[in-house]
Amino acid sequence: MVTNFFDVVNARLDERTSRGLAHAVSQAIGDGSLVEGVKLPPIREVAGVLELSPSTVATAWRLLGAAGALRTDGRRGSVVARRGRGPARYRQALRPGASLALDLSTGMPDEALLPDLHDALSRIGRSWSSGSYLDDPVIDGLVDVLRADWPYDAESFMVVDGAMDALEQVANLALGYGDRVIVENPSFPPLLDLLDGLGVRSIGVDVDEDGLDLHQLETALTLRPRALFLQPRAHNPTGISMSVARAHEVALRLRGSSVLIVEDDSAGAIAAAAPLSLGRWLPASTIHVRSFSKSHGPDLRLAALSAPGELAEQLRERRRVGQGWTSRLLQTVLLELLTDAGSCGLVARARDTYGARRDALVRALEHEGVPTMGRDGLNVWLPVHDETAALIALASHGVGAAAGAPFATREGGAAFLRVTAGLVDRDVAHLAGVLARAAREVPMRGPR
Ligand SMILES: Cc1ncc(COP(=O)(O)O)c(C=O)c1O
Repeated sequence: MVTNFFDVVNARLDERTSRGLAHAVSQAIGDGSLVEGVKLPPIREVAGVLELSPSTVATAWRLLGAAGALRTDGRRGSVVARRGRGPARYRQALRPGASLALDLSTGMPDEALLPDLHDALSRIGRSWSSGSYLDDPVIDGLVDVLRADWPYDAESFMVVDGAMDALEQVANLALGYGDRVIVENPSFPPLLDLLDGLGVRSIGVDVDEDGLDLHQLETALTLRPRALFLQPRAHNPTGISMSVARAHEVALRLRGSSVLIVEDDSAGAIAAAAPLSLGRWLPASTIHVRSFSKSHGPDLRLAALSAPGELAEQLRERRRVGQGWTSRLLQTVLLELLTDAGSCGLVARARDTYGARRDALVRALEHEGVPTMGRDGLNVWLPVHDETAALIALASHGVGAAAGAPFATREGGAAFLRVTAGLVDRDVAHLAGVLARAAREVPMRGPR
C-alpha cells in the first residue's frame, strides 16, 4: 500500500461522490502517482479518512473496476490494474425491448424511411474495383460532395466506419489516462463509456435550448480540459440544435486555448437544423464528424470527418496499422446515394417525416401537461418523476423507452426517459397519454 495514498487522492478529490472519488483515483493512476500493482487501503479506512460513506467508496471501486483501473486480487484486496474497458452505460441504456409491442428505446431510424441500398448497389454496377492497399483511402469525388454542405472550410477529410469509430480513434489519439474533457450533460452513453474506459474524466456541462451553458463552460475551462465533445445539432438525447449565436459564444470562450473540439453530427441529413460547426471560427482545433447511419442506414457503418491537416495525418497514420481504410465499395455506394436525385429526395422526405412525428408527439405531450425540450432529431427527452417506475408503467402498456440515467454525467440529477419519437407513426394522442401517466408514476413502497 502507498503511505501517501490519502494525500494523493485528497489532492485530486474535487467532488465528494463515488464518481468524484473514482476520477480522483484514475487521475492519480494517469499521472503516475499510483502505479500498477499498488494495493489500496480497505474500504472502511478510505471512508473514515476521506469522510465518505463506505457505500460511496464501494461504488467508486466498482466504477474503477468496470473501467479496468482496479482489480480485486484475492486476499490482497483491490490493486491498481492496467486500464481496461467496460461499456456499462451503453448496455444499461440499450436494453432492447424486443418483447414490447412498441419499442421506443432504441434511438434508431425507421427502416421504412431509409433509401434502398439494393437500388444503389445495382446502379454502381462495375464502377468500383477491388482496389489495393496503396489506393487513396477516400474515393475520388466524395470529398467534393461532402464539401458542398460541410459547415466550414475544412482542411482535410477522412471516411471512417461510423461516428463511434471516429470518436474512438480521436479519443485514443488525443487523450491520455487522467485527462479531463468537457462533455454535454446529458451525453451519448457510448461516448461516456469510451472516456471512462480510457481513464478520462468527463466534466458535464448542461445544455439548454441553444446549446452549452456558457457559465458552466467557463468554470469547466478553468479545470484545463484537453477536449470538448459536443453534438452541434439534433442532440441525442434532448433534440436541441445549437444556435449560431451560442456556437459563436462558445468559440469565443475557447479561442486561444488548446482545447480540441470534437463535434458529433450523428443525425446528419435527417436533422432539420442546418449543418453548424465551431470550425467556422476555430478550424485549426476542430474535428467535425458526420454520420450517415441515421440518414442512409446504420449498417453502412459510414461517417465522414474533417480535421486540421496535421491531425488528420496522425489519424491516418494510426489507422494504417489497424483498419487501414473504410471499404471503397461502401464509399462508392455512399457517393451514389449522395448524388442520386431519387435517394436525396428520400432522405429529405425522411427528415420531414421525422420532424413531423417528433412535433406531433411533443405537442401531444404538451397537451397532457408534459413540457419537453429540443426541436430536432429522432428523440424526445421526457422528464419523469422516477425512471424505474415510469419504465415499469410503460412496459405494462407494451411501450419501451431508454432510462435517462446512463446519459447523465452527474449523479443525482433530474429523472428522464429517452423516447424515440422518430418511430411513432400512429396513435400519438394515446401514446402521449401513456407517457404522461408514466412520467407521473412514483416508486412502489415495499412491505414494512
Ligand atoms: C450522438 C451519437 N453519436 C454517435 C452515434 C453512433 O453513430 P454511428 O452509427 O455512425 O457510429 C449515435 C447513434 O445513435 C449517436 O446518437
